[in-house]
Amino acid sequence: MSAWHEIGLVTDIPRRGARCVATPFGRIAVFRTAEDHVFATEDRCPHKGGPLSQGIVHDSSVTCPLHNAVISLESGEMRGPDEGRVRVFKTRVDPLTRVIELSLAAEAAGIVEAAE
Ligand code: FES
Repeated sequence: MSAWHEIGLVTDIPRRGARCVATPFGRIAVFRTAEDHVFATEDRCPHKGGPLSQGIVHDSSVTCPLHNAVISLESGEMRGPDEGRVRVFKTRVDPLTRVIELSLAAEAAGIVEAAE
């Protein structure tokens, strides 16, 4: 089974916006930046669980809609008002079709490790 899952077109997501994808590992937010870069993180702020998919995307970061924590979409690191990190997921975009693919491989490997 492939680790990559097609989740839709880049144009399905508004620039500087996000869409949610339901997965066996929880809800994942897929973001599109103003420059058409695509990132994916869990849809849950490490501060108090705010829905990051409803945040404001700027550069390669998102600002949480609840208390304005800024989270890097590249590393998942939170930059205030607290410390923390969200899980990030690999994405890739087919250059011809503009279809976004999301990888859950690392997450699945983590589940296997945790079960051992
Ligand atoms: S829940 Fe995101 S900053 Fe508080």
